[in-house]
Amino acid sequence: MRSYFIAGNWKMHKTVGESVALATELVAKLAGAGEKVMIAPAFTALQAVAAVVKGSNVLLGAQNMGPEEQGAHTGEVSVLMLKDLGVSHVILGHSERRHGYGEDDALVNRKVRLALKHGLEPILCVGETLGERESGRLEAVVGAQTREGLAGVTAAELAKVTIAYEPVWAIGTGKTATPDDADAVHAFIRKVLASLYGDAAAKGVCIQYGGSVKSENAAELMARPNIDGALVGGASLKAESFVPIVRFR
Ligand code: PGA
Repeated sequence: MRSYFIAGNWKMHKTVGESVALATELVAKLAGAGEKVMIAPAFTALQAVAAVVKGSNVLLGAQNMGPEEQGAHTGEVSVLMLKDLGVSHVILGHSERRHGYGEDDALVNRKVRLALKHGLEPILCVGETLGERESGRLEAVVGAQTREGLAGVTAAELAKVTIAYEPVWAIGTGKTATPDDADAVHAFIRKVLASLYGDAAAKGVCIQYGGSVKSENAAELMARPNIDGALVGGASLKAESFVPIVRFR
């Protein structure tokens, strides 16, 4: 049976206490869930949440990391620190980082390669703005983000990479790409991956959809051939909205 990867991105929400409470509830309610599940709390809550999810089927992700291993980089968090806490995944190149903090493809690529070097599995986020879509630049933008994000990544390393397609105009807006529109972009991303790594490797890559995913639209999105999971923001902040997404089937 096809398996899906559902990840929750808690963004800049929740104190340590609130994070532990939600993680505890999720561990209980997601026990035995058939899908691969990850939650990404704020950096400040990672250590406490790591203790809660330990030994469960809920994986721990970070929302970002610095492009260097260590050193004089005020305010950054390193891959070594994340590994030390038991983090297994890291979201990189989220549109809020690209558009709010000026992260470009070259920087995202350095982070992707550094994560892989240390065995942290990256979720590489790509996606176009509404203006880019409306001016016919969707494929140019998403293609470049995919190619440049993966520059220098080997075929063996690709197996550890998840791509998240998140149209910027659908994030936190309540607007979702239609399942067919999203699937078409996922198919395009797979074509780009095939051009870089060959068909078989491209087929094996998990491509998540993100942007206003909720329990009401999850099953329909997951039914599409190229949608292999979801990266969930707002609806991941409460068990009552996240659990039904993970248990969409
Ligand atoms: P959203 O966010 O589900 O709130 O639209 C998705 C994301 O930014 O990962």
